[in-house]
Amino acid sequence: MASEQFQKHAEILSNRVKKRFRHLSRKFRKQNVECFRLYDWDIPEVRAVVDWYAGRIVVAEYERKQTIPAWLPAMAKAVGEVLGVTPDKVFIKRRHTKTEEGPRYKKLDSKNERFIVQERNLKFLVNPSDFLDTGLFSDHRDTRGIVADLAKDKDFLNLFAYTGAFTCAAALGQAKSTTTIDRSDTYIKWAEDNMKLNGLLGVQHTFIQSDVDKYLDKAAKLGKKFDLCFVDPPSFYQDKAMGIYFDINLDHTQLLRDVFKVMAKGAIVIFSTNHQRFVPKFEGLPIKDLVELTPKTIPEDYRNRQIHRCWRIAI
Ligand SMILES: C[S@@+](CC[C@H](N)C(=O)[O-])C[C@H]1O[C@@H](n2cnc3c(N)ncnc32)[C@H](O)[C@@H]1O
Repeated sequence: MASEQFQKHAEILSNRVKKRFRHLSRKFRKQNVECFRLYDWDIPEVRAVVDWYAGRIVVAEYERKQTIPAWLPAMAKAVGEVLGVTPDKVFIKRRHTKTEEGPRYKKLDSKNERFIVQERNLKFLVNPSDFLDTGLFSDHRDTRGIVADLAKDKDFLNLFAYTGAFTCAAALGQAKSTTTIDRSDTYIKWAEDNMKLNGLLGVQHTFIQSDVDKYLDKAAKLGKKFDLCFVDPPSFYQDKAMGIYFDINLDHTQLLRDVFKVMAKGAIVIFSTNHQRFVPKFEGLPIKDLVELTPKTIPEDYRNRQIHRCWRIAI
């Protein structure tokens, strides 16, 4: 029974992926984009996403109680075969539909093998094996273009920066300075490596391993002011020692208030979240102009048109 069902799912998935690859690879080649989504849980019973990373494939399953362990490897094998990718370049990930921070940013392996991928005018280091995420979120490809276009001569602040893809975009867009904040030392170093890879390192670019709350507090006391900020918090995080419990739905208004304290008059903040049940509460914030960018920033290869939501906030 299971094997019959696996076969049916493998067939559906590989047919879809083959068709999408033919269409998307042609389109993205013209744009110099090597990473894109090939399957986005398009068919309810095939609970997977498939991402293309310049000749590597990452196949992830959205797990639930009934998940059968052999299902994901069977799907990965089928996808690898239909795209002609050898098994050593096909990676599997088990995801949960709940978006608690949990093990999301923890290590899964220690192969430490990173390779270079191209996204338009930027290169990024990607690691498909060691973490749940690879180091590059392709759904924000077009948001990076928006940040690059806004960055010229600006002092740019990247909060919850992860591997610094937005820092690279701002630096490429000729930001006057960039400041990159993440609590993870691994990701801060990765962000520097990404900047170096693009020949963008320089004294005007600062990388700080810190909790965002601590950084904002210190920066406000020092009277720091930025003109452009990208803030993309996880849905939940905590710091037991500091008594911080952040839940994006409850706490984003206060986070934005704290961000605004370090922004210059007339500054722009781009706020983003990938929480699937996010309810924005911007009322009462000192905002001059607010535009939801989501319809513009979700790329064609994502079927989930709310894989993230983001807003351009002028203050
Ligand atoms: C959703 S990712 C951000 C993705 C990033 N904006 C991008 O597009 O590449 C969240 C990041 O927040 C970091 N993080 C989680 N809690 C934090 C905190 N309290 N302070 C600073 N960074 C934190 C994690 O280490 C992770 O790199």
